[in-house]
Amino acid sequence: MSDQLDPDRIPRHIGIIMDGNGRWAKARGFERTVGHAAGEQSIFDTIDDCLELGVEWLTVYAFSTENWNRSAEEVDFLMAFNESLLVRHRDSVAEKGVRLHFVGLADDPRVPERVTLRMAESERHTAANSTMHVVFAFNYGGRAEIAAAARAIAEAVAAGKLDPADVGVEAISQRLYLPEMPEPELIIRTSGEQRLSNFLLWQSAYSELVFTPVLWPDFDRDALVECLVEYQSRDRRFGGVDSAEESPAQEADGR
Ligand code: IPE
Ligand code: IPE
Ligand code: MG
Repeated sequence: MSDQLDPDRIPRHIGIIMDGNGRWAKARGFERTVGHAAGEQSIFDTIDDCLELGVEWLTVYAFSTENWNRSAEEVDFLMAFNESLLVRHRDSVAEKGVRLHFVGLADDPRVPERVTLRMAESERHTAANSTMHVVFAFNYGGRAEIAAAARAIAEAVAAGKLDPADVGVEAISQRLYLPEMPEPELIIRTSGEQRLSNFLLWQSAYSELVFTPVLWPDFDRDALVECLVEYQSRDRRFGGVDSAEESPAQEADGR
């Protein structure tokens, strides 16, 4: 796809905080919602690019548990938009072997039923696919996800099915929304903001964070490649030492 990239170091899982839709629209004199609509193409182009690169998991942050703080007009738009984009794209992504998942606060009475039903239906329709997993984080918050895992653990302990001595990192990981989802090696945030805004808090413990000034509706293949080049330049140490320091004898040899 790009000779700038090492094909052996493509992340297995990329998370994207798709940000900057409102600013994109305002800069053009449009309402904020026009920016969300313009971001639709970026989502599905990025899915195609990730398929081509061999990325196995892509998680996109579509609506946070804090996005309810926006105007009713914008929230209503985002609810209807996230439902209708599934109508527009479900079949084409399904044909490419994409399996769709939705993570977030389920059973929230604020989410219109037709949205919930459409998401459940899209999951069922693509359940046999395995070429790539695309996860929509919708009405999602990392804190709520960890709290739900803690609640499940408390219930298991209260029911006598889990020993408190066995409650550790694994017990929590197994009770997240999608326990089979690997942790993202890379999290990209567009629009220049440098924060997680409650995205994948547990899973991002050792993710490489790459921030690009590009606004989400302008995010394209070149922007993705640029983020991947930055990712591939990082030394992932996981609390260990620099890989070059590991073999001092070799370093002394100048190898
Ligand atoms: C991201 O774009 C999309 C959602 C949060 C749903 P924004 O709507 O946050 O755009 P800005 O950050 O205001 O420009
Ligand atoms: C994060 O973006 C949420 C999504 C991309 C869905 P926001 O625009 O809501 O985040 P803040 O408010 O700038 O932190
Ligand atoms: Mg924003």
